[in-house]
Amino acid sequence: HVEADLAETVRPGWLSRWETTSRHLTLGKLIGLGRFGQVIQGTLHTPGGETISVAAKSVRRKNAQCYRNFYREAAILVTVHEDEHHNNAHSNIIQLLGLINETSQKYILMEYASKGSLLRLLRHAQKQNGAAPLEHGFLYAVDIARALRELQRLAITHGDVAARNVLITADHVAKLADFGLGRDVYAPVKDVDDDDKNRENMAENEFIPLNWMSVEVLERGEYTCQSDVWSFGVLLWEIATLGQEPHYGGNPHDNPSCLRLARTLRRGIRLRRPPECSGEMYDVMMSCWHENPSERPSPDEVETRLLRLTPGFE
Ligand code: ADE
Repeated sequence: HVEADLAETVRPGWLSRWETTSRHLTLGKLIGLGRFGQVIQGTLHTPGGETISVAAKSVRRKNAQCYRNFYREAAILVTVHEDEHHNNAHSNIIQLLGLINETSQKYILMEYASKGSLLRLLRHAQKQNGAAPLEHGFLYAVDIARALRELQRLAITHGDVAARNVLITADHVAKLADFGLGRDVYAPVKDVDDDDKNRENMAENEFIPLNWMSVEVLERGEYTCQSDVWSFGVLLWEIATLGQEPHYGGNPHDNPSCLRLARTLRRGIRLRRPPECSGEMYDVMMSCWHENPSERPSPDEVETRLLRLTPGFE
């Protein structure tokens, strides 16, 4: 029952549009390891004789939670590409290139973003030049605000907007990736399958990134486009701090319970203004962290405000 077929998750017509076979894929090295998935760099050989660099995502382990996440990501990516011409996603969302759905080989094939994650770039910049801001840093944020505007148009929530899930292409375009998480992965923490894999699952759950979550997500698991805007505010904070771990006092690696963190946020406590961050930029972050979701700016408003703070950029 665990190995639900991709075809059941993704509507049949769409699957055929994306399905390819492992014969066309050459796998290379492991480039990413997440809680539920792993990503391998590969080469896709198209029927037209082209070779394309791809990132091939598969499950990390063959358990229910990993498969659930995998199928969910496939379904969301297909939906995101559904109503665009020529099968192209919005330019700030990672491009789907194919799906492989064989018994022992299941892969989501995505465009390969050669600069890796924004978090990696931020931490690299931190090591190289200390306090200097990352070149293009807030322009990457503008890109992600545009991705959120597109998701809002499609009525899709991402659920895990964070620098680790933003990928940067060779030509410095930021793309939102990792659509597997969110609602039904975080919510069932307590009803994780009660099998002998439980200990393993528990270890995975320890890494649930609470400090990116809005107050209503922490309290009620209420994911909306406006809760993505909250997380986007934390992403701005990550850019301003060159990839520090967000935390609300105490030990940054402490993982407080959802409700304890929600109480902290209800008392009005927010991430502090990073030393290098302008007051105007901090105002944008703070507006994303409004207690009331409907008072937070829309992705469109965030984009406009960021552009106003970035002179000379269209
Ligand atoms: N790591 C995870 N996904 C990736 C992608 N699409 N490109 C490059 N690195 C990745």
